[in-house]
Amino acid sequence: EKGGHEYFMLKEIEEQPEALANTLRGHFVDGRIVLDEQRLAEQDLRDVDKVFVVACGSAYHSGLVAKYAIEHWTRLPVEVELASEFRYRDPVLDRDTLVVAVSQSGETADTLEAVRHAREQKARVLAVCNTNGAQIPRESDAVLYTHAGPEIGVASTKAFLAQIAANYLVGLALAQARGTKYPDEIAREFHELEAMPEAVRRVLGTVDQVRALGRDLSDSKAVLFLGRHVGYPVALEGALKLKELAYMHAEGFAAGELKHGPIALIEEGLPVVVVMPSPKGRAVLHSKLVSNISEIQARGARTIVIAEEGDETVRPFADELIEIPAVPTLLQPLVSTVPLQVLAAEIARSRGYDVDKPRNLAKSVTVE
Ligand code: F6R
Repeated sequence: EKGGHEYFMLKEIEEQPEALANTLRGHFVDGRIVLDEQRLAEQDLRDVDKVFVVACGSAYHSGLVAKYAIEHWTRLPVEVELASEFRYRDPVLDRDTLVVAVSQSGETADTLEAVRHAREQKARVLAVCNTNGAQIPRESDAVLYTHAGPEIGVASTKAFLAQIAANYLVGLALAQARGTKYPDEIAREFHELEAMPEAVRRVLGTVDQVRALGRDLSDSKAVLFLGRHVGYPVALEGALKLKELAYMHAEGFAAGELKHGPIALIEEGLPVVVVMPSPKGRAVLHSKLVSNISEIQARGARTIVIAEEGDETVRPFADELIEIPAVPTLLQPLVSTVPLQVLAAEIARSRGYDVDKPRNLAKSVTVE
């Protein structure tokens, strides 16, 4: 059942190229992005003047990733909020607000209540969901299904990658409705997304290296994760995976915050995972991170660097280098997340824990 794997999570990590391909399939028809269900008029999408993404846990991280792309493509302000906070606030919403509710199960209590809270104020709701006919899509005005297939492992992996892809499709659908991108630009973005299953397949070539690293790190007391721009939510996701699976203290930081506090945590031998942006993207992002790594390395951290193949500048600062394929900046989370999933699973396994069933956690959180 586990397809020859020791635990389901590893099987699900390896199913990610397929999960992405299945999620994208059928959403670009005759040169247009299409959703699965749309119970609102195209004009309503065109009138959207603000976007909220509401979700919990990893799904929330998928929203944080998508914010960069949606704002870039649509020029709409995007706020990403934990559903459990959103529902008890008094968010400023009206009929021109689009609330994107992201949920693998489609049954998460806080996310469902956030949807109801939004609808009471006439906001439009679009669900991104992995479960056909679940409560959240049923109560939404539009739906985009992720097709990750069922996740047995409690920790989200393939559903998370599929959520990022689906959120990007939502961004492209909005850009299309608003005319902030020309049809040929939308087609190009879609085709770049379509190349991602192959890129993820390539990054799976690092599994053995990352598992060996995980065994080596299994006695660590804590692990820090640093990222910038889209690498920041990836760092948060890497830390969440490690907490929930390995019961290890893990924290993700925006690299720019180092000097504002977290650098005080750095001590001899502390493993710090750094998610490097592409050296071919915005030069300033890359050079800032290189200087962050050199600072933490000078203070004795053990640096584990996730960087693009051929990124030579970073090599001298990497105690361990994990190479990922070159992809467009906004799409990098789809590849950079993968080694972090493997790392967390393998550290957990080495510590003797049940990777698929971490203590105290349920797959679907239908109580608050
Ligand atoms: C983490 C994880 C959880 C879920 C969260 C939301 O690995 O699986 O953080 O992402 O409970 O669940 P859904 O997406 O079902 O609403």
